[in-house]
Amino acid sequence: MILEAFYDAKVKTSPWKRVYILAELNRLQQNYPYEDTELHQMLVAVEEETEMVVGFVDIDARPCKTKIKLPRPYLSDLCVHPDFRRRGIANRLVKTCEEFTKQIPRPEIWIRVKGDNNGAIEMYKNLDYSITGQDENDPAILVLHKQFESAE
Ligand SMILES: CC(C)(COP(=O)(O)OP(=O)(O)OC[C@H]1O[C@@H](n2cnc3c(N)ncnc32)[C@H](O)[C@@H]1OP(=O)(O)O)[C@@H](O)C(=O)NCCC(=O)NCCS
Repeated sequence: MILEAFYDAKVKTSPWKRVYILAELNRLQQNYPYEDTELHQMLVAVEEETEMVVGFVDIDARPCKTKIKLPRPYLSDLCVHPDFRRRGIANRLVKTCEEFTKQIPRPEIWIRVKGDNNGAIEMYKNLDYSITGQDENDPAILVLHKQFESAE
Protein backbone atom coordinates (compact mmCIF):
# COMPACT_ATOMS: atom_id res chain seq x y z
CA MET A 1 0.00 0.00 0.00
CA ILE A 2 2.87 2.37 0.82
CA LEU A 3 4.53 1.54 -2.49
CA GLU A 4 1.28 2.17 -4.34
CA ALA A 5 0.77 5.48 -2.50
CA PHE A 6 4.23 7.05 -2.54
CA TYR A 7 6.33 5.54 -5.33
CA ASP A 8 6.12 6.52 -8.97
CA ALA A 9 4.75 4.27 -11.71
CA LYS A 10 8.24 3.19 -12.84
CA VAL A 11 8.87 1.50 -9.50
CA LYS A 12 5.47 -0.16 -9.39
CA THR A 13 6.09 -1.90 -12.72
CA SER A 14 9.79 -2.48 -12.17
CA PRO A 15 11.19 -6.03 -11.85
CA TRP A 16 12.74 -4.72 -8.59
CA LYS A 17 9.32 -4.01 -7.08
CA ARG A 18 9.74 -6.77 -4.48
CA VAL A 19 13.04 -5.27 -3.35
CA TYR A 20 11.34 -1.92 -2.79
CA ILE A 21 8.56 -3.67 -0.85
CA LEU A 22 11.13 -5.40 1.36
CA ALA A 23 12.97 -2.10 1.88
CA GLU A 24 9.74 -0.47 3.01
CA LEU A 25 8.93 -3.43 5.26
CA ASN A 26 12.39 -3.15 6.79
CA ARG A 27 11.96 0.61 7.32
CA LEU A 28 8.65 0.04 9.12
CA GLN A 29 10.03 -2.81 11.22
CA GLN A 30 13.06 -0.71 12.24
CA ASN A 31 10.75 2.08 13.25
CA TYR A 32 7.98 -0.06 14.79
CA PRO A 33 6.92 1.22 18.23
CA TYR A 34 7.81 -1.85 20.30
CA GLU A 35 8.54 0.61 23.12
CA ASP A 36 7.60 4.26 23.66
CA THR A 37 3.99 3.59 22.68
CA GLU A 38 2.96 6.69 24.64
CA LEU A 39 5.01 8.73 22.18
CA HIS A 40 4.82 6.75 18.95
CA GLN A 41 2.12 4.70 17.26
CA MET A 42 1.46 3.10 13.90
CA LEU A 43 -2.26 2.84 13.20
CA VAL A 44 -4.05 0.72 10.64
CA ALA A 45 -7.56 0.75 9.26
CA VAL A 46 -8.83 -2.79 8.74
CA GLU A 47 -11.71 -3.94 6.54
CA GLU A 48 -13.97 -5.83 8.94
CA GLU A 49 -15.04 -8.79 6.80
CA THR A 50 -11.71 -9.70 5.21
CA GLU A 51 -9.41 -8.21 7.89
CA MET A 52 -7.44 -6.63 5.07
CA VAL A 53 -5.35 -3.59 6.00
CA VAL A 54 -6.76 -0.72 3.96
CA GLY A 55 -5.19 2.30 5.65
CA PHE A 56 -2.04 3.24 7.54
CA VAL A 57 -0.54 6.17 9.41
CA ASP A 58 2.45 6.81 11.67
CA ILE A 59 2.38 9.36 14.48
CA ASP A 60 5.68 9.99 16.21
CA ALA A 61 6.42 12.33 19.11
CA ARG A 62 9.83 10.89 20.07
CA PRO A 63 12.91 13.06 19.65
CA CYS A 64 14.07 12.87 16.04
CA LYS A 65 17.26 10.86 15.55
CA THR A 66 17.62 11.09 11.77
CA LYS A 67 20.15 13.36 10.07
CA ILE A 68 17.41 15.35 8.37
CA LYS A 69 15.53 16.81 11.34
CA LEU A 70 11.83 16.06 11.11
CA PRO A 71 9.33 18.04 13.15
CA ARG A 72 7.69 16.44 16.18
CA PRO A 73 5.01 15.26 16.82
CA TYR A 74 5.04 14.15 13.20
CA LEU A 75 2.28 12.47 11.19
CA SER A 76 3.63 10.51 8.23
CA ASP A 77 3.05 7.69 5.77
CA LEU A 78 -0.69 8.32 5.68
CA CYS A 79 -2.08 6.12 2.92
CA VAL A 80 -5.28 4.36 1.98
CA HIS A 81 -5.67 1.42 -0.41
CA PRO A 82 -6.82 2.79 -3.80
CA ASP A 83 -10.03 0.69 -3.74
CA PHE A 84 -11.02 2.18 -0.38
CA ARG A 85 -10.40 5.88 -0.97
CA ARG A 86 -12.99 8.68 -0.54
CA ARG A 87 -14.78 6.81 2.23
CA GLY A 88 -13.42 8.89 5.09
CA ILE A 89 -10.70 6.42 6.15
CA ALA A 90 -7.81 8.92 6.03
CA ASN A 91 -9.91 11.48 7.85
CA ARG A 92 -10.58 8.95 10.59
CA LEU A 93 -6.89 7.97 10.85
CA VAL A 94 -5.81 11.62 11.15
CA LYS A 95 -8.45 12.28 13.80
CA THR A 96 -7.24 9.24 15.77
CA CYS A 97 -3.69 10.67 15.62
CA GLU A 98 -5.09 13.95 16.91
CA GLU A 99 -6.68 12.19 19.90
CA PHE A 100 -3.31 10.53 20.55
CA THR A 101 -1.37 13.81 20.53
CA LYS A 102 -3.87 15.44 22.89
CA GLN A 103 -2.67 12.95 25.53
CA ILE A 104 1.02 13.85 25.27
CA PRO A 105 2.99 16.86 26.52
CA ARG A 106 3.09 18.53 23.06
CA PRO A 107 -0.47 18.51 21.70
CA GLU A 108 0.27 19.49 18.12
CA ILE A 109 0.85 17.77 14.76
CA TRP A 110 3.31 18.52 11.97
CA ILE A 111 2.90 17.04 8.47
CA ARG A 112 5.01 17.27 5.31
CA VAL A 113 3.17 16.93 2.03
CA LYS A 114 4.16 17.38 -1.61
CA GLY A 115 2.93 20.73 -2.90
CA ASP A 116 1.16 19.05 -5.85
CA ASN A 117 -0.76 16.55 -3.68
CA ASN A 118 -4.02 18.44 -4.02
CA GLY A 119 -6.23 15.70 -2.54
CA ALA A 120 -4.20 15.43 0.66
CA ILE A 121 -3.81 19.24 1.00
CA GLU A 122 -7.58 19.63 0.57
CA MET A 123 -8.14 17.05 3.30
CA TYR A 124 -5.71 18.68 5.75
CA LYS A 125 -7.16 22.14 5.09
CA ASN A 126 -10.64 20.80 5.82
CA LEU A 127 -9.25 19.44 9.07
CA ASP A 128 -7.92 22.95 9.94
CA TYR A 129 -4.21 22.36 9.30
CA SER A 130 -2.29 25.50 8.32
CA ILE A 131 0.48 25.61 5.74
CA THR A 132 3.45 27.09 7.60
CA GLY A 133 5.87 27.14 4.64
CA GLN A 134 8.15 24.98 2.52
CA ASP A 135 10.42 22.25 3.80
CA GLU A 136 13.91 23.67 4.31
CA ASN A 137 15.53 20.73 2.49
CA ASP A 138 13.00 20.43 -0.33
CA PRO A 139 10.89 23.40 -1.48
CA ALA A 140 8.51 21.05 -3.32
CA ILE A 141 7.29 19.88 0.09
CA LEU A 142 4.90 21.94 2.22
CA VAL A 143 4.93 21.86 6.00
CA LEU A 144 1.55 21.80 7.72
CA HIS A 145 0.73 22.30 11.38
CA LYS A 146 -2.18 22.10 13.83
CA GLN A 147 -2.17 22.95 17.52
CA PHE A 148 -4.58 21.36 20.01
CA GLU A 149 -5.69 21.98 23.54
CA SER A 150 -4.21 19.41 25.88
CA ALA A 151 -6.74 16.83 27.10
CA GLU A 152 -5.07 16.79 30.53
C1 LIG B 1 -4.66 11.28 0.46
C2 LIG B 1 -5.32 9.95 0.92
C3 LIG B 1 -4.63 9.45 2.17
C4 LIG B 1 -6.80 10.26 1.22
O1 LIG B 1 -7.40 9.07 1.73
P1 LIG B 1 -8.97 8.87 1.71
O2 LIG B 1 -9.32 7.81 2.68
O3 LIG B 1 -9.43 8.70 0.33
O4 LIG B 1 -9.46 10.28 2.25
P2 LIG B 1 -10.88 10.59 2.84
O5 LIG B 1 -11.93 9.73 2.22
O6 LIG B 1 -10.79 10.59 4.32
O7 LIG B 1 -11.09 12.08 2.30
C5 LIG B 1 -11.27 13.18 3.13
C6 LIG B 1 -11.34 14.44 2.29
O8 LIG B 1 -10.08 14.71 1.70
C7 LIG B 1 -10.24 15.30 0.40
N1 LIG B 1 -9.71 14.38 -0.61
C8 LIG B 1 -9.24 13.13 -0.41
N2 LIG B 1 -8.79 12.62 -1.57
C9 LIG B 1 -8.98 13.57 -2.51
C10 LIG B 1 -8.72 13.65 -3.91
N3 LIG B 1 -8.15 12.64 -4.58
N4 LIG B 1 -9.05 14.80 -4.55
C11 LIG B 1 -9.61 15.83 -3.90
N5 LIG B 1 -9.91 15.82 -2.58
C12 LIG B 1 -9.59 14.70 -1.90
C13 LIG B 1 -11.73 15.50 0.23
O9 LIG B 1 -12.06 16.79 0.77
C14 LIG B 1 -12.28 14.39 1.12
O10 LIG B 1 -13.58 14.62 1.55
P3 LIG B 1 -14.81 14.18 0.59
O11 LIG B 1 -14.55 12.79 0.12
O12 LIG B 1 -15.98 14.31 1.51
O13 LIG B 1 -14.81 15.18 -0.54
C15 LIG B 1 -5.29 8.88 -0.21
O14 LIG B 1 -5.74 9.43 -1.41
C16 LIG B 1 -3.90 8.28 -0.43
O15 LIG B 1 -3.55 7.27 0.16
N6 LIG B 1 -3.13 8.93 -1.31
C17 LIG B 1 -1.73 8.50 -1.59
C18 LIG B 1 -0.83 8.78 -0.39
C19 LIG B 1 -0.85 10.22 0.04
O16 LIG B 1 -0.87 11.14 -0.76
N7 LIG B 1 -0.82 10.43 1.39
C20 LIG B 1 -0.78 11.72 2.02
C21 LIG B 1 0.63 12.07 2.28
S1 LIG B 1 0.78 13.45 3.35
